[in-house]
Amino acid sequence: MAPATWTRVETEARRLGALDLRTVAQRSDLDSFIWRAPHLEADVAKQPIDAGAMSAMLAFARERDLAGHIEKLFAGGIVNASENRPALHWALRGGGEEISAVADMRRQQAEATAFAKSARSGGLGFEVKTILHVGIGGSDLGPRLVWDALRSYGAAGPEIRFCANIDPEDFLEATTGVDPATTLVLVVSKSFKTPETASNARLAREWLVKALGETAANQHLAAVSSAPDRARAWGAGEDRIFPMDEAVGGRYSLWSSVGLSLQIALGPDIWARLLAGGREMDNHFRTTGLQENTPARLAMMDVFLATALDIPSRPVLAYAHRLRRLPDFLQQLEMESNGKSAADSADGRVGDTAPVVWGSVGTLGQHSFHQLLHQGTRRHAIEFVAALDAGAGDTARGRALLANAFAQAEGLLAGRSAAEAEAQLLAQGVDPVRARKQARDMDMPGQHGSTTLLLDALTPESLGALIALYEHRTFAAGVLWGVNPFDQWGVERGKVLAEELDAAIAGADPGNRDPSTLRLVQQARNAAR
Ligand code: F6P
Repeated sequence: MAPATWTRVETEARRLGALDLRTVAQRSDLDSFIWRAPHLEADVAKQPIDAGAMSAMLAFARERDLAGHIEKLFAGGIVNASENRPALHWALRGGGEEISAVADMRRQQAEATAFAKSARSGGLGFEVKTILHVGIGGSDLGPRLVWDALRSYGAAGPEIRFCANIDPEDFLEATTGVDPATTLVLVVSKSFKTPETASNARLAREWLVKALGETAANQHLAAVSSAPDRARAWGAGEDRIFPMDEAVGGRYSLWSSVGLSLQIALGPDIWARLLAGGREMDNHFRTTGLQENTPARLAMMDVFLATALDIPSRPVLAYAHRLRRLPDFLQQLEMESNGKSAADSADGRVGDTAPVVWGSVGTLGQHSFHQLLHQGTRRHAIEFVAALDAGAGDTARGRALLANAFAQAEGLLAGRSAAEAEAQLLAQGVDPVRARKQARDMDMPGQHGSTTLLLDALTPESLGALIALYEHRTFAAGVLWGVNPFDQWGVERGKVLAEELDAAIAGADPGNRDPSTLRLVQQARNAAR
């Protein structure tokens, strides 16, 4: 049974849904919809929300005891009920010293930092020019995002190459032009049994042994895992296995030893700045009341848009080349956290949960899928992410990048009617019959809401703050939806079926399956002959 306050939320949604968003956006209380947090602001003034909607969501958040859940998170309470675990990713950025597990985490962090310093200074017995980071999902996406965003800060250090897919083309591409003699292979896997990563770990070790011989190869191996026995069996030496705490979920883990390749490539100072930015956001989330708490308010808005207004799509458009991996990262963070139906809350779910999170880098999306956003028939909760220091010092190009982001947001809201288009065509001298017909195809309804999330500048601190903002926003939304944002039972089934079909393609009895799957297995068998 949904909480009583949800009924008021639905009433607000019906009211807002009937209004012209262009009117809603003509806000006299604009400042109330510019939400500040460390290193950034979220301009939500173009979204279909207003004081009434946010008041209703605040009452709902209070009935869901969101503030209590935030306290529980930072107290190391069991916020992951199905696995009976706390969620301590935030403690990796500092704080939580009163929680018993954190002492171990600090030791793990110190070991990783010491190893990173050693790797950077020739302490491994060879010069590390490349780190081959082998991992997938949360053991890959966060490090990739941070590496793409901050690699210019680590110009003097090694390069990171990433390999995630079981398709050997990925490994081949990742090792093209790479010298095994100056490469550190770092396998990152919390379970150390994810099939793709286990396969790539074997491939990488064979690649090293072939070039360097068995003994030397082992000097080029290291592993990050919660399963040290499996890492040891792979070939990593005792002093080259860096544990990660079970209380840190994969998609929340980049701050742990999962980020070891970043520590080596970027250096301890940049790494410390990334964590410091995240810690500033932690402090904001932990100490700010819900009414001024930006991650919490974004979560309330997300739930209002996705569930109360039933908007099933959330495109994230990162208007910065260095943030091109942000949509990929958020896909796992948000959809693996809140793409759920099982209620984690006593009073159940209130409706549909996480929307489909997708997106790309701007301005490329404008030449790809923005047509659908402007003239398609569906609604989207659009999110622009940009930085005011865009352009890397090139003022004109940076200005153009921001102008494109702002123009897309304005055009999506304002639209342009067929009548306006017709008048423009007539003014250009187009004959009236053609102008009337063409205008119909040029109609843009507008009324598409968007958020513009603006970083003061794209730095290690602001990137840390941005990622921590999304982590806390995702957690808070899970609390509001009434689901557990820290488990992922839905991804286990696919792994089991893949093992069965792998054996079937190899010749084993496929058993009782749907006709399409049986035929596809046969197709693969035929191709292998
Ligand atoms: O997608 C399922 C998942 O378990 C993710 O949660 C995790 O980030 C990824 O696979 C990799 O898992 P591991 O780090 O154990 O290899």
